[in-house]
Amino acid sequence: MKKIKVTDDNRLLHGGDYNPDQWLDYPDILKEDVELMKAAHTNTFSIGIFAWAALEPEEDKYDFDWLDKVIERIHSIGGRFIMATPSGARPAWMSQHHPEVLRVDAYRRKQLHGARHNHCFSSEYYRKKTQEMNTKLAERYGDHPALLMWHISNEFGGECHCDSCQNNFREWLKNKYNNDLKELNHSWWGAFWSHTITDWEQIESPSPIGENAVHGMNLDWRRFVTHQTIDFYKNEIKPLRELTPDVPITTNFMSDNPEFVPFTALDYSQFAKEVDVISWDAYAPWHTDQEDTATLASRVAFLNDHFYSMKNQPFLLMESTPSLVNWHDVNKAKRPGMHFLSSMQMLAHGSDSILYFQWRKSRGSSEKFHGAVVDHDRSKDNRVFKEVAQLGKAMEDLSDCVVGYQRKADVGILYDVESDWALNDAQGFGLKTKKYGETLQKHYQMFWENNIPVDVISKETAFDPYKILLIPMLYMLSEETAEKISAFVKNGGTVVTTYITGLVDEADLTHMGGWLKPLKEVFGVEPLETDTYYPSDRNSVVYNGKAYEVRDYATVLKLLEAESLGSYEEDFYKDTPALTKNTYEKGQAFYIGARLNDDFHRVFYNELIKTHDLKPALEAKHNRGVSIQARKAEGKQTIFIMNFTEESQTLLLLEEVTDCLTDEVLGGALELAPYETRVVEKRI
Ligand code: GAL
Repeated sequence: MKKIKVTDDNRLLHGGDYNPDQWLDYPDILKEDVELMKAAHTNTFSIGIFAWAALEPEEDKYDFDWLDKVIERIHSIGGRFIMATPSGARPAWMSQHHPEVLRVDAYRRKQLHGARHNHCFSSEYYRKKTQEMNTKLAERYGDHPALLMWHISNEFGGECHCDSCQNNFREWLKNKYNNDLKELNHSWWGAFWSHTITDWEQIESPSPIGENAVHGMNLDWRRFVTHQTIDFYKNEIKPLRELTPDVPITTNFMSDNPEFVPFTALDYSQFAKEVDVISWDAYAPWHTDQEDTATLASRVAFLNDHFYSMKNQPFLLMESTPSLVNWHDVNKAKRPGMHFLSSMQMLAHGSDSILYFQWRKSRGSSEKFHGAVVDHDRSKDNRVFKEVAQLGKAMEDLSDCVVGYQRKADVGILYDVESDWALNDAQGFGLKTKKYGETLQKHYQMFWENNIPVDVISKETAFDPYKILLIPMLYMLSEETAEKISAFVKNGGTVVTTYITGLVDEADLTHMGGWLKPLKEVFGVEPLETDTYYPSDRNSVVYNGKAYEVRDYATVLKLLEAESLGSYEEDFYKDTPALTKNTYEKGQAFYIGARLNDDFHRVFYNELIKTHDLKPALEAKHNRGVSIQARKAEGKQTIFIMNFTEESQTLLLLEEVTDCLTDEVLGGALELAPYETRVVEKRI
């Protein structure tokens, strides 16, 4: 697929979800919006996301007049619009007259009309209606000069268990298993508890009513849900591709919240192939009492790099809040300066936009207290509006040195959602301590602290561009991926893995005969047992003369070719290897057998960064909590220096750079106020 530049006129996009359909009875508000949009230095609005009831108030009776006017107003101030297809929420008349559009939940209960994101992906009627609606939108607005792209539906997710979806699941399985129940039973380990299937009709989607003991089936169901969702999306975009082949298409992805780890309801690595531009909705829980700002910042960075790496190109921040949300346990306002800093961080990691949910706070219903640019006071003088306007002005000034600039990393960390599904399903290990996403973020954090960029990749990504490949907790590992890792190391790459890696294959069946051969060869060890700890259990591993604490997991290892770098201090595996290094052909492979703490990771990864001669974009000395990230273009790079601490920080810059906003030449000591960002340029 051709690479599409996110913005076509070199402007960073600033704006967000605009829901004028909530305000059609308030013409003064709609007029006021345009004035406020200018004052906020905003230029891009996603419209129509939940507007189906306004666009088609009665079946087959459409009304686009109000939308025409809204679009003309945005256009009149030089703004752009991202046209959403409204399928994320449907009108009540549709649920009333065509109840097949309503979802059936995993308990086989038909859902009532209400909320949103709750339509059946198989419903023929819904598919037909979305195509009709999208055709009308494309015919009417496809040539509009202010149209920037299509935004398909909203935050796809969820699943339906109605009869049509069951049938589609069975058809999908028939196709996958070549119409052969023997193959399916083998893959699902059907003989276990007499779960052998003898007729396709016996297959039912997983439900809490039954026992979900058949892990192979659970895994296939999740794969099917991804397939089904993408299929629905493809049905939606058909008329858009036909009528507006040059208009890029996106759909807004998200994270798993409130944990703020990669999204697990769908396999985004597959979905990403179908969109032109990645966009995502980031609602980081800033200022919680759970973690310091710097640690959260590194997790935000991880997710951004995850979305950048999906297409290895700049993405859009489609939704964020300028102040607070309404669905965290505690909805804390962003402290002064945090909005600017957190937005700059998105740009630093490859976003070409800062877009909000939402432009104007609703007057009623569940989101009336969710943060927005325009508050109920309708004022441009409140703190939030002023911070948004300040950011908008800076984005206008920075566009030239950000838009089109790329990211580049020598380190890749592999996140595999299928492995995440299987590991979560596994009855074993510590049921509450698996934390695959969080574990990846912890390993990633050590590179972030050193300002070394990392791509967050999938198992399908080519490994050869990287010097270091991190595959912590890669529970599910196929022979194909094992061979790929082996080839990477053979050619000189360095790989690091941990406990729980490589225990099952892509059907979630354990590997027979111990670890896969390529893994034994590459790592020069064989994991024998995975010991799981109670929360109060501790062990330690001595590495380079210092003891580091072990929690949750400890693998007992057999050394083959590898050397031991550290051993356990306690338990029946006292003095046996916990950490190993193997030289394999031109490369190296490290196995970290235990869940070790940040102190260990810091020492271990700092050494790896040194031995691999990885250098940050800008040489500087600073405390933890300051992050330096770069975007590159031909011969130059734009570098974001960000203070994610509540204190002033003094950095020592070891090279000269020019401030992009003030043209000041900087070098030597640089003071950063709490939460301050400086954006600088460096020639390369
Ligand atoms: C998103 C959703 C928006 C809005 C927002 C509130 O998940 O796409 O429509 O509800 O959450 O934070």
